[in-house]
Amino acid sequence: MIEKKILILGAKGMLGQELVRIFKKDSGYKVLAWDKEDLDITQETAVYRKIKAIRPAIIINAAAYNAVDKCEADKKELALAKKINGLAPGYLAKTAKKIGAVLIHYSTDYVFDGNPDITEPTGCSHSCSSCHLHESFQPQIGFDENAKPNPISNYGRSKLMGEKEITKNAKKYYLIRTSKLFGKPAQIEGAKKSFFDVMLELGQKNQEVKAVDEEISCFTYAPDLAQKTKEILESQKPFGIYHIVNSGPCTWYEATLELYRQAKIKVKVIPVSSGEFPRPAKRPAYSVLLNTKLNPLRDWKEALKEYLENPY
Ligand SMILES: NC(=O)c1ccc[n+]([C@@H]2O[C@H](COP(=O)([O-])OP(=O)(O)OC[C@H]3O[C@@H](n4cnc5c(N)ncnc54)[C@H](OP(=O)(O)O)[C@@H]3O)[C@@H](O)[C@H]2O)c1
Repeated sequence: MIEKKILILGAKGMLGQELVRIFKKDSGYKVLAWDKEDLDITQETAVYRKIKAIRPAIIINAAAYNAVDKCEADKKELALAKKINGLAPGYLAKTAKKIGAVLIHYSTDYVFDGNPDITEPTGCSHSCSSCHLHESFQPQIGFDENAKPNPISNYGRSKLMGEKEITKNAKKYYLIRTSKLFGKPAQIEGAKKSFFDVMLELGQKNQEVKAVDEEISCFTYAPDLAQKTKEILESQKPFGIYHIVNSGPCTWYEATLELYRQAKIKVKVIPVSSGEFPRPAKRPAYSVLLNTKLNPLRDWKEALKEYLENPY
């Protein structure tokens, strides 16, 4: 059997390590797992030269700058975010096009402003919200793949810049937006823990914990996203933009309650507004990513159960 050569960038990151694990399990792929020490994706010439030398059939870019608050407050950090999230995807896109590779890249719900359009039932004019069409209509509120981005933070703007570079320069691409990733921390020194790990620690040390009861969006379990990425590729879905998140939108507070219920941690959880934890970068108040193209992922509560049952 001929193996497909697949290059995974950001291979030590939270998502990258799951992509490596899932593709390595399949003998149909020869996996090259690279992180910053193998290729700094902000170096345009090196990107082209090193990738051309190995000629992968598929390039997955899971490398990113994710320090949302740092790049809001600090100009040097913002410059770095623009290089990694904004410009580097363009270098990868041009390289992928030149060697005929499929490029998979990830983006975020933070490219949206938090004010989604509310869809009306087909056949209804917007002025008649009490008509028979509305009676049985369950609007899906959120941002679908065609919604217009309008980021409200520097991080969001840097990721949107990357999206534009991909769509402008790549021919065969999957641009996958996701939100609130959780899973095993990245294999790098000082790796940022995901929300659930932070809250587990707080719950074990304190008698009460405050959690923001705002910023509604969807959690995404990194292994589920990696698996779905492989499915998109293998089912040869049309190239374009996809939204992949676990089902069931919630606030940070609602997620904390469920976490402590599943982990059997008895602690008082106090819902607070985002104003209680001021941060430099604005977050969208509502950034549910609607998936209109793929079978949905399982509910986040089920994914969380699996995560808690498999300590790393
Ligand atoms: N985490 C979330 O909640 C979230 C939400 C929405 C979307 N996303 C998107 O999902 C994707 C995966 O995120 P993640 O959380 O798995 O990221 P992550 O854990 O921060 O991993 C990113 C990896 O990229 C590497 N990297 C950084 N700069 C690089 C460079 N210049 N050249 C090569 N590699 C570099 C990092 O290495 P160092 O750490 O050593 O720099 C790290 O190993 C990203 O596109 C991200 O924007 C994430």
